[in-house]
Amino acid sequence: EKGGYDYFMLKEIAEQPKAVADTLLGRIDGAGSLRLDEVRIPDSVLREVDKIVVVACGTAFHAGMIAKLAIEHWTRIPCETELASEFRYRDPILDSRTLVIAISQSGETMDTLMALRHAREQGAKVLAVCNTNGSTIPRESDAVLYTHAGPEVAVASTKAFLTQLVACYLVALYLAQVRGAKWGDEVRGVVRELSEISGEVERVLETMEPVRELARSLADKNTVLFLGRHVGYPVALEGALKLKELAYMHAEGFAAGELKHGPIALIEHDVPVVVVVPSPRGRSVLHEKIVSNIQEIRARGARTIVIAEEGDESVVPYADHLIWIPATPTLLQPLVSTVPLQVFACELATARGNEVDQPRNLAKSVTVE
Ligand code: M6R
Repeated sequence: EKGGYDYFMLKEIAEQPKAVADTLLGRIDGAGSLRLDEVRIPDSVLREVDKIVVVACGTAFHAGMIAKLAIEHWTRIPCETELASEFRYRDPILDSRTLVIAISQSGETMDTLMALRHAREQGAKVLAVCNTNGSTIPRESDAVLYTHAGPEVAVASTKAFLTQLVACYLVALYLAQVRGAKWGDEVRGVVRELSEISGEVERVLETMEPVRELARSLADKNTVLFLGRHVGYPVALEGALKLKELAYMHAEGFAAGELKHGPIALIEHDVPVVVVVPSPRGRSVLHEKIVSNIQEIRARGARTIVIAEEGDESVVPYADHLIWIPATPTLLQPLVSTVPLQVFACELATARGNEVDQPRNLAKSVTVE
């Protein structure tokens, strides 16, 4: 059952390296090319796609926000990510050259189902990224790429999220491959690192004790804020969502660049602020900007909890708490940066005496609109 863990959530967090590896299994060949034969949308159709729309809810939506960045970067196809519950109510522009990607762990989320039905009625092709074999969303889609997370029981999504990311990276890279996009060193390097990433997730899990300790020390706080940029922004949103649903705390994620447009007014003495720092390699301008954000909020009294790449000494002087994560290619960082936030929320919920696997007012799959 819970395999010796107190909660399903803890078990599912621990299963992430395997879930990630299983989702990659058989999908990258020895030469580093992608094989997604199960996606039964012909390559000729994929080559004609001129727009991609990702629809999803909650945690799956955060995976979708990261998917957008990966898809646009590797394929140069314009991509937008939209909350499934908003999608069909705004008369979206869709036609037969639009690819809609519907992400859902359960495959039964009504908002996502209604969005994909609407997309198909307009002639768009729908690809589901789903964790549940034979569920409604894949059955009603043109194709499906299954995530192989195994059953996820805890209401808070953890391993499903990581595998949704993996599946979306695979879709993005596959689209780049069939469209003959420049398969340069960068992409080759990403495929290689993706195929080895489960070991890095494992390494992160081995270093989580200080994160648990930190979470316990914050159990009487009212608010935790999360900041990130680029792929770190959806990670910040995901960290905040986990904390809301599990710890019943006020938690908000912001794009760090928005701080000065309002949220910085929230910073006061001892407010915990988690900052997800991008790799100092990759997009180094973003890195510099985040480091100055950390300085700014710390000068205003925030308690800074900094998630940064191992060896990134530039953040050390401004961090009240440091959580190191392994170096990864920029777009893959969420696979390692999300894990401490899951552990953090789970431990805070426990410290506050909450029911971790079954938070109040929530259901595992939301089958009403
Ligand atoms: O089954 P789905 O992936 O479609 O579910 C979507 C959301 O309801 C789900 O991710 C929800 O936000 C989680 N409880 C978050 O932990």
